[in-house]
Amino acid sequence: MPHTLADKVAIVTGATSGIGEAATVALSTLGAKVLACGRREDRLQALAGRLKKRGNEITTTVTDITDETAVREMMDTCIKHYGSIDILVNNAGVMLLGPVLDADTEDWRRMIHTNVLGLMYATHAVLPHMVKQSSGHIVQISSVAGRTTRSDSAVYNASKWAVNAFTEALRQEVYQHHVRTTLIEPGIVATELREHITHQETRKNIEDWAGSVRQLQPEDIAAAIVFALTQADHVDVNEVLVRPTDQEG
Ligand SMILES: NC(=O)c1ccc[n+]([C@@H]2O[C@H](COP(=O)([O-])OP(=O)(O)OC[C@H]3O[C@@H](n4cnc5c(N)ncnc54)[C@H](OP(=O)(O)O)[C@@H]3O)[C@@H](O)[C@H]2O)c1
Repeated sequence: MPHTLADKVAIVTGATSGIGEAATVALSTLGAKVLACGRREDRLQALAGRLKKRGNEITTTVTDITDETAVREMMDTCIKHYGSIDILVNNAGVMLLGPVLDADTEDWRRMIHTNVLGLMYATHAVLPHMVKQSSGHIVQISSVAGRTTRSDSAVYNASKWAVNAFTEALRQEVYQHHVRTTLIEPGIVATELREHITHQETRKNIEDWAGSVRQLQPEDIAAAIVFALTQADHVDVNEVLVRPTDQEG
């Protein structure tokens, strides 16, 4: 099993915090050249500065994943800059939990547009390059919420179930082109994800619960991503479900 990603070119979406930031550091550490994307330019610059100081090869792009044209331009930038795209970590996402009855439907649009359509735009834009290369690896950051359901999570659940269905169907379309797909399904991870929840009661409930368990750290999920990416070419790790030891459902 290769323990290096030297000479691989990777795009990581949502690299400005949490899992995406940790994945960018982990992939860079293994020698990948990374194009890191997000909307917060200051965070991207800080991350790039840290990694460049260590001698890692990284470039950044301020890209909103919900803008299909911008996503396509991001792929073109990567090809122009590095000449190929070997890995796409489709990580950008939002989790705006709350009950259906009280919902601000703008939260639904943001979740579906970011978690589902944004991930699909990036997949669609990267595929021609990977098929042409006859190799590539698309890692979709789904969730335990893509395998289970719970109240106050209906639309987030729906978005992640959509990611899982899309990815398995995609796998069946692209495996003959030697394009691998991996679903990563984390349980609760200590990131800023839930700080954006607008339904205050739901936010308090999840914060209280998070405080009662030993949460996963972003680096734990980066390790799962690296596990999938460092297998031999003939091995496609299709799905990795990682819960904190303390998480029941
Ligand atoms: N934390 C958990 O418990 C957990 C569990 C299971 C799955 N996940 C999944 O893991 C992924 C990463 O979440 P995280 O926990 O690391 O949360 P996070 O720290 O809030 O990171 C989310 C990332 O997504 C980016 N993002 C959001 N909307 C975007 C957009 N429209 N365009 C481009 N980038 C966008 C954010 O960057 P900008 O704001 O700078 O754009 C940020 O870098 C998500 O898909 C989430 O659903 C998280």
